[in-house]
Amino acid sequence: DLVLHVTGARPNFPKAAPVIRALADLGVPQELIHTGQHYDEKMSDVFFRELGLPKPDVNLGVGSGSHAGQTAAIMTGLEEIFLSRNPGMVVVYGDVNSTVAAALVASKLQIPVAHVEAGLRSFDMSMPEEINRLVTDRLSNLLLATSPDAIAHLGNEGTDPDKIHLVGNPMIDTLLANVDRFDADRARTEYDLGDRYIVATLHRPGNVDDPADAAALVKAMHAVADQAEIVLPLHPRGRARLEAAGLFDHPKLKVIDPLGYVEFLGLVRGASAVVTDSGGVQEETTMLGVPCLTLRPNTERPVTITHGTNRLVTREALPQVVADVLAAGRSETWPTPPLWDGHAGERIAAVIKQYLRD
Ligand code: UD1
Ligand code: UDP
Repeated sequence: DLVLHVTGARPNFPKAAPVIRALADLGVPQELIHTGQHYDEKMSDVFFRELGLPKPDVNLGVGSGSHAGQTAAIMTGLEEIFLSRNPGMVVVYGDVNSTVAAALVASKLQIPVAHVEAGLRSFDMSMPEEINRLVTDRLSNLLLATSPDAIAHLGNEGTDPDKIHLVGNPMIDTLLANVDRFDADRARTEYDLGDRYIVATLHRPGNVDDPADAAALVKAMHAVADQAEIVLPLHPRGRARLEAAGLFDHPKLKVIDPLGYVEFLGLVRGASAVVTDSGGVQEETTMLGVPCLTLRPNTERPVTITHGTNRLVTREALPQVVADVLAAGRSETWPTPPLWDGHAGERIAAVIKQYLRD
């Protein structure tokens, strides 16, 4: 039975890589579909090169659009592919529009769906990702969870426990497999940084889409840059609005283009702190032991707070929290979440193979 992986956006690629590798080791036939949701070299191709992902068998090239327009284009493209390939299973990753589109198309064609990173909940329906998570999980036949809280949420929603598997975090497999390549010294030289610097990433609609939010964010980031140099590889989404709000006008805040995976995590590894609204970066900082200040009112990844280095911060509180974190320094030891051990891909592959056999 053919397994079809559907990916499309930057955070999908480090999650899919270990699953594809582990299924290949088990001899399971598979193909990789790229929806084209992300298409810039630094949002897509660089991950294929750096993570040794196979070249996509198909790229739908859907590009950007409104939620409905983008999701519909992905669905139309996938329907044709699924009908021609007739896969035994479709594997979807995370919570982006490509994820929910694939789950909808597959389930209506009676093709079983496996959702990698099932059960995460922010309980914030203003996030498009929360809608994508709820719908995808409801339609999935295999719910592959990265943390125990996810199991509890799925249970509360009445999901059949036989479908749910705690498998650990494949994004962390990718991190652990590449950690020796994360070169903080090289990043320091490249960006002319001292010992103490901060890395930031910002792209959530709640932070960057509205001009008033963008202005408040810029004010907070400038107050941070007064204390320590910031390097900010900026996602294309917020770029124009943040630039208009004056983001680039601080001498100690370097705004750069998105970085490749290895370069980005090299920079993160050497940082005194990370300021972010990314989902994946909350997890990666937790593993690298770098304090993470998440500029959001909630997180679907609470395990990074209870078992990691993450904390939620408002824009207003950010400058003072950064001051505290810089004064305290990085801790020598910290807990990490259960099963974030580099072997999630193998566990996921075993569950999928068993499902196909039954
Ligand atoms: C998407 C995901 C979000 C995830 C993020 C990771 C959805 C609903 N959102 O948000 O959960 O955290 O990816 O990065 O799926 N753009 C480019 N080049 C690209 C891709 C996008 O310039 O290669 C610009 C376009 O102007 C586009 C905008 O970014 O309109 C937003 O892209 P889109 O894929 O719609 O959502 P993201 O904000 O990237
Ligand atoms: N990332 C990267 N380069 C960057 C910023 C992020 O390689 O300039 C990686 C990051 O290490 C993580 C993934 O992109 O593996 C997270 O994607 P993103 O923050 O776009 O999405 P989210 O996790 O918020 O959905």
